[in-house]
Amino acid sequence: MGETLKVGLLGYGTVGSEVGHILEKHSEMISKRVGATIKVSKVLVRDASRARKNPIPAGASIETDISAILDDPELDILVEVMGGIDPAYGWIRAALEAGKHVITANKELIAVHGGELLDLARDNSADLYFEAAVAGGIPVIHPLREALIGNRIELIMGIVNGTTNYILTQMEQGNSYEAALKEAQDLGYAEADPSADVDGHDAAAKISILASIAFGSRVTPDDVFTEGISRLSIDDLAYAEELGWVIKLIGLAKRVEGGVDVRVHPTLLPGDHPLASVKDEFNAIFIEGDSVGELMFYGQGAGGLPTASAVVGDVIDVARNTMAGATGMLGCTCFDDNRVIPIDEVVSSYYLRTAVLDRPGVLAKIASAFGRYDVSLAKVLQMQTLEEDRAELVMVTHESQEANVRKALEEIDSLEEVVGVESLIRAEITEGN
Ligand SMILES: NC(=O)c1ccc[n+]([C@@H]2O[C@H](COP(=O)([O-])OP(=O)(O)OC[C@H]3O[C@@H](n4cnc5c(N)ncnc54)[C@H](OP(=O)(O)O)[C@@H]3O)[C@@H](O)[C@H]2O)c1
Repeated sequence: MGETLKVGLLGYGTVGSEVGHILEKHSEMISKRVGATIKVSKVLVRDASRARKNPIPAGASIETDISAILDDPELDILVEVMGGIDPAYGWIRAALEAGKHVITANKELIAVHGGELLDLARDNSADLYFEAAVAGGIPVIHPLREALIGNRIELIMGIVNGTTNYILTQMEQGNSYEAALKEAQDLGYAEADPSADVDGHDAAAKISILASIAFGSRVTPDDVFTEGISRLSIDDLAYAEELGWVIKLIGLAKRVEGGVDVRVHPTLLPGDHPLASVKDEFNAIFIEGDSVGELMFYGQGAGGLPTASAVVGDVIDVARNTMAGATGMLGCTCFDDNRVIPIDEVVSSYYLRTAVLDRPGVLAKIASAFGRYDVSLAKVLQMQTLEEDRAELVMVTHESQEANVRKALEEIDSLEEVVGVESLIRAEITEGN
């Protein structure tokens, strides 16, 4: 085929080596779909002597100096699959300034600098695509930007971190958090330092990106209240199961009165919610749009090959734009400036587990403390004896403001009959389930 578009691949690790492999393996099919040959001509790594899962694509050179790529006028498209903010940020800026199209899988970078990089791409008639930055192989950025763009998106709820979903699935089966984490590490789902996953930061970056696109208003990880799963107890998962509910680490983005509500935390869902059946390392994103109604995208949210599927899709999209002479984007699509409401203003139902002394009148005292702060109880679920004189009280509130729930809990914690408030888990449940 006539024209050849040349790709520089920044990174040849888990994702990069699969991108190189797919582009080579499907070269003929891709040529037909694009109307030009796509060829990886340079690959950048830190250590050129390291063994790679897949061989470097035929004819590509291996580089360790970025200038060999940034200064090469023949490269049309750069694919950044290294990770981290630095040096990726500076290199992507330089590539866009030189008019090269950029594809990245880097959620941290896009969550923080996406808006500015999209503007830079527009100003330089370049494309910047990042489908793989959220939920790996699951197409969700393109649908939000294209097929769903005529909707007013009201809600996004995502299981966007496979590691934590795997751990929670294990905990549902009675394994401790520590044992489940160890297994996730042994299987390669969790890093040796799992904090980005288990503390919710990875999910916060992803929901920031989705919220920014869906609401057309910039949300960055610093705006997102983030709580991870490391303090969850298997007792809470067991109680949830008894009640027909599940606990998932959810990235939530919702339009609310006075702004948008964007947060990441363990969340109770009714057992019949579409996200409740998403198990193990799978990801899913549930979306509500005013015209389309409810939608759910489900699949492999990580892993070299599924993530490379999204990256290669972007490469082909960019190549088609180039062939059509239609490159150059709109820039950042955050035309509005919605306030992200602080956690104190969030209105939610709450699941609370409290250890109390097993004495008459405890519940009445607790209920009246809640009443003083305008929090009403929807359910008092269990009163199980822990020891001779102690019981465990599990309560679910009606929708209440977080600040009020916290003030009430402070007062409840100081009651002499209360041993301690053990758990607070926000619940996305409708009255009645
Ligand atoms: N892995 C997944 O399942 C997944 C899913 C979704 C998104 N992502 C995103 O995809 C990106 C890549 O992830 P990955 O898992 O493929 O990472 P990885 O396996 O650690 O590979 C990173 C690659 O980048 C190269 N590299 C890193 N820093 C470099 C530098 N300063 N100069 C030159 N080369 C450098 C490394 O070179 P050496 O090999 O020589 O060290 C390696 O080849 C990240 O942004 C990640 O968040 C990954």
